[in-house]
Formats: sequence, C-alpha cells, structure tokens
Amino acid sequence: MKKIAVFTSGGDSPGMNACIRAVVRTAIHFGLEAVGVYRGYQGLIDADFKPMPSHSVSNILQQGGTILRSARCDDFFSKEGRKKAYDNLKKEGIDGIVAIGGDGTFTGANVFLKEYPDIKIVGCPGTIDNDLTGTDYTIGYDTAKNTAMEAIDNIKDTANAHDRLFFVEVMGRDAGYIALNAGLSTGAEIVMIPEHVSSVDDLLNELENCFQSKRTSSIVVIAEGDELGGAQDIADMVKEKYDRYEMRVSILGHIQRGGRPSCTDRVRASRIGVQAVKALLAGENGVMVGLKNDLISFTPFEKAIKSQEPINGEFLEAVNILSKVI
Ligand code: F6P
Repeated sequence: MKKIAVFTSGGDSPGMNACIRAVVRTAIHFGLEAVGVYRGYQGLIDADFKPMPSHSVSNILQQGGTILRSARCDDFFSKEGRKKAYDNLKKEGIDGIVAIGGDGTFTGANVFLKEYPDIKIVGCPGTIDNDLTGTDYTIGYDTAKNTAMEAIDNIKDTANAHDRLFFVEVMGRDAGYIALNAGLSTGAEIVMIPEHVSSVDDLLNELENCFQSKRTSSIVVIAEGDELGGAQDIADMVKEKYDRYEMRVSILGHIQRGGRPSCTDRVRASRIGVQAVKALLAGENGVMVGLKNDLISFTPFEKAIKSQEPINGEFLEAVNILSKVI
C-alpha cells in the first residue's frame, strides 16, 4: 500500500477533525501518502482530491465540523456513481481508504468493496448518535451529549422560573443514547426513546405523578426518533388531554452536531484514526475500528450497520428511579 485517502461522510460530528489528523499523520509515519477527499462520496465521484501533508492537519484538533466537509450522496447508491468513484481512485493511485462516518457511510462502503475489492476500506465510527454495533462509542457522541446536557440545564432554569412543562427534543434518529444521557444528567422527569415503546397514556400518568409530587415544572426529553413522534407532536397530544401545566417545546437540533470537541472525543477519535491506518496496512478490509470497554475493536461493516444492540436496561431503570420525588 502506497497511498491512502481519507474522507468524512454523512452527518458531521465533533472529533472528526481529530480523526482526520490521526489518519494523515499515521499514514505519513508509516511512509504512506495521504490524500483528502472533499464532501465524502460526492468527492470520490467528482475527483475532489487534495494531497494532505502533515502540516495540513495542524491546529484542527479543537475545531468542530470537518475540514474535509461532508455530504449525504445519493449518486453513490448507483452503479455508475460507484464506477466513477473507482476510476477516479485508480487514476489517483489510491489503494486504501479510511471512511469516517456512520450507518450510511458504511452501507455505501460495503457495497463498493464487494464490487471493487482491490481498494481496501476501513471505517471509523463518526456520528453523534452512537448507533453502531461493535463499538461502545462513536466520534462526536460525547460532545453532543454534553451540549444537550448544557442546553437542558439552561431550559430548566426558565422552566422553574415560570412553572412550565418543557418538551425538549434531542437528536437520535434511531437511537436514544443522547436522550438517555441528557435526561439522566439533568434530572429530567421523563425520557422518551425509540428503543422503548411508550404510550400517551403512560406519559400522562407520569406527568400526573410529577404534579402530585408537587413538581411545579418538569422536563420531558424526547429523542427525535421516538415512535410517538417528535417533541412538537407529543406536546400537541398532551395538550389535548392535560392542562395542569403551561407547556413549551424546545428542539435542540443541529447545535448538538457542532462545537469544540470534548477531550474524550479528541482522544478517542485520535486513537481510532491511528488504528484505522494500521488496520489498512495489516490488510484489513471492510471493517470498522471501534472501542469496546475502551479497547480497540474491529467489526465487519455488515455487522456494524445491521444488528442493533438493545439499549442497556439498567440505564432506563436509573432514569425511572431517580426522576421520582416521593
Ligand atoms: O446522524 C446524525 C444526525 O444528526 C441524526 O441524529 C439526525 O437525525 C440527522 O443526522 C440529521 O441529518 P441532517 O443534518 O442531514 O438533517
């Protein structure tokens, strides 16, 4: 292997820059040339490549977003799109790729490597959602949950001041990890996540319990992918049947995706990036480098994207027990 490409794809996440830096510097350390691809798969199709010497990744560790930009690229899901990408990679002399992204990124990579096995691909889990199997951690998850926590701390102040019930929506299309962490760390009264089925009646009962235990304000944290809907939908359903509190909705949205990465995200993204290049050099293909119990793990793309591990029940139990004031 002589030349490797690195790109970020799908939703950006804080810590992606630390991972890019680690990939570039590790590649150079082992005598490889590193090339950056702009806007993920779109950049492969458009041949948007740029050589990445060591200094090109100086002073980026602390920056949110991704210096390589990102995109969600439909063209790569067509055979023609992938053929163009392959031709561009061959022309550039690239024989290995480090793909930093989430579910969609590894789904694309998995199709590509079956069609073009001569270009090896190793993945680094980059998504705030923490929804990949085979790793306890994804790059950006730590910063995102801290951002959500801080935002909800602020909301609690105003909820208290006005005796209001707040429905706060956090990100997580298919996963409730940000919601669980944000809820547990802020003492939210109720947390609603896609992995745990709930009904409007359950929610009304819980709200009434809060009221009976003399809560003058309450916070319900909702993962955007909850099966009952987003925060606005759920607030509308509650409003129809319940009038004990004045209610407000707050959707945290993309503020959770940006911002300076936490120490944990910088450190873990760096460790994963180093191991991704080493994995390519060791001949690995089609695997995601992750962390299990803080040790490096390797998971085939197929497994990383498909089988969802169930949410830790002890986590939900803690939310339920600790939110009760009796
Ligand atoms: O995958 C990360 C994520 O932030 C999800 O939590 C969210 O549903 C989605 O991306 C939003 O994507 P976009 O920025 O493309 O709207």
